[in-house]
Amino acid sequence: MIYRFRLTEDEYDYDVLTAVTAYLDCEHYAWLHARNYSHYEILEDGPTTSRIIQHSKYLGITFKQHHFREYLPPSEFRMSSDKPFPIYTHTRFTERADGGVHRTVDVSVDLPWPLWPLRGLLAAHLRRYDARVYGEDAAAAERRARYLGKNNWLWAFRPSQFLLHKDAVIAAFREQIAARGLVLDESASQ
Ligand SMILES: [Fe+2]
Repeated sequence: MIYRFRLTEDEYDYDVLTAVTAYLDCEHYAWLHARNYSHYEILEDGPTTSRIIQHSKYLGITFKQHHFREYLPPSEFRMSSDKPFPIYTHTRFTERADGGVHRTVDVSVDLPWPLWPLRGLLAAHLRRYDARVYGEDAAAAERRARYLGKNNWLWAFRPSQFLLHKDAVIAAFREQIAARGLVLDESASQ
């Protein structure tokens, strides 16, 4: 039985590219979000799609999830996960007039019928989980801003940084990135 709901709608005072690079940075998942994600393994990194194994902890239980993730440039993402039951998410980052970012996440879960009466509790649990993970990302963005300056995402495009779908992000934000003086040559996208 499909249960659809809006997981969250919130605001951050950094720009869209900061949010996109934070989302696609593979290297932070297993340490920054260690309380929820104890394992993060990339099986396939295509131009805009990826397959990942992630161990996620819900209600004290660790689920070994297979994720299929899709980047819809410039700033939308779809994700499907197989455990504990099929979960689909659609995340959108949109720019606000003041330079901040608005995030919406829509979720649909394919619930086994015995869990249907618990769907409200499940949504509340996923909201707490999401708020904790995004709180960690926002705190990391603040720390980074303190040391590197606000909206400084140049780190993400270093040749040594493993950012999922880096070429697609560079193509979608080419003007904004070039305006910061980053030379976008072959080595910047490897
Ligand atoms: Fe994160």
